Amino acid sequence: MSSEYIALASDRILVTGSNGFIGTRVVEILLGYGYRNIRCFVRPSSRLDRLEKVLSQFDAGKDVALVTGDLLSPTDCRKAAEGVSVIYHLAAGMEKSFAGAFMNSALATRNLMDAFLRFAKPKRFVNVSSFAVYSNLALKRGALLDENCPLEDAPQERFDAYGFGKLKQEELVKEYGEVHNLPYVILRPGYVFGPGKRELNGRVGTSAFGLFVQVSGTQSLPLTYVDNCAEAIVLAGFKAGIDSEILNVVDDELLTGQQFLKAYKDKTKSFISVRIPYVVGYTMSLLWEKYCQRSKNQLPPAFNRRRCSAEWKGNRYSNQKLKERLGWKPRVPMERAMEAFLSQFTSNGNDDPLKR
Ligand SMILES: NC(=O)c1ccc[n+]([C@@H]2O[C@H](COP(=O)([O-])OP(=O)(O)OC[C@H]3O[C@@H](n4cnc5c(N)ncnc54)[C@H](OP(=O)(O)O)[C@@H]3O)[C@@H](O)[C@H]2O)c1
Repeated sequence: MSSEYIALASDRILVTGSNGFIGTRVVEILLGYGYRNIRCFVRPSSRLDRLEKVLSQFDAGKDVALVTGDLLSPTDCRKAAEGVSVIYHLAAGMEKSFAGAFMNSALATRNLMDAFLRFAKPKRFVNVSSFAVYSNLALKRGALLDENCPLEDAPQERFDAYGFGKLKQEELVKEYGEVHNLPYVILRPGYVFGPGKRELNGRVGTSAFGLFVQVSGTQSLPLTYVDNCAEAIVLAGFKAGIDSEILNVVDDELLTGQQFLKAYKDKTKSFISVRIPYVVGYTMSLLWEKYCQRSKNQLPPAFNRRRCSAEWKGNRYSNQKLKERLGWKPRVPMERAMEAFLSQFTSNGNDDPLKR
């Protein structure tokens, strides 16, 4: 391994969320690079079919250890982290409740970092965060959203439990870096898509009153194909000289919401969608927000200005820092990525890709 890299082939590597959509690809790419000393952390209730398929492709079932537990348990975290050098931390709370998201994103991360510092040989903690931590309220439409963009300061007003969990997770990671010298890197992927993820991200549009509503549609989506994103995550664990860096992950050749939805609808069961201008979406979000306040939340504040801005305002994105620091470039160009994504849908009308 070159001096550009901090991890040796013999180093033990832990992947949390290893059976998840992105985690499975991270394991696959690690195996592709020749790493075998991998520990995959999974919950007892986790579905393992995707992960087992990858392990069998590489005939790695005997080398790779599956460790079962829950990151909410410090004992399980010790079991996971003991003796490892690099942690790829992908497990996260996907719950709709703020408490659930806080527990599985923030508390779980704290437990894991504690175990890493006490029982391991820490070389790098790769924390997979998200674009959900940003607030683009202060940015103009079309302005560049990069790693310097302000973070969301009121996720509860945005009604975004997931984003709240990721913000708290990042705060903890940075604190552990400063106070306990945890060597970390934070990656913030945009909208990760690919086979294995069938439903559309809210940035493309949202289901409301039996319709699929696309707001604006002319805005670029911060897309990253799952293999390209996983490659960035893997490199972030090995590359020397990038401690405490924060890196956005988006691909080249981004599509607009309209282009993405059209390709999706052409391939999947047709459903009715309407497109409304951003200013209309923003006004409706404002009215919804006000009604919720006046009626003391008889309706959940699912539509609000912060969300409207974050998901549909439209910004430009950059992967320049990612390319410079990691030497990363997308493995799969956008055209092939879209083909691979769409190939998971049958065209006989039996699928319901909007079902979450
Ligand atoms: N998908 C995207 O578009 C996207 C975009 C930006 C960032 N990200 C980030 O990328 C990471 C992976 O996302 P994904 O899409 O691959 O999600 P995913 O498929 O839902 O995987 C999440 C994983 O976390 C595990 N997990 C949750 N709570 C846990 C706990 N307490 N202990 C142990 N494991 C736990 C889940 O285990 P079970 O299988 O047992 O539930 C699952 O394996 C996350 O950190 C996410 O925030 C994703």
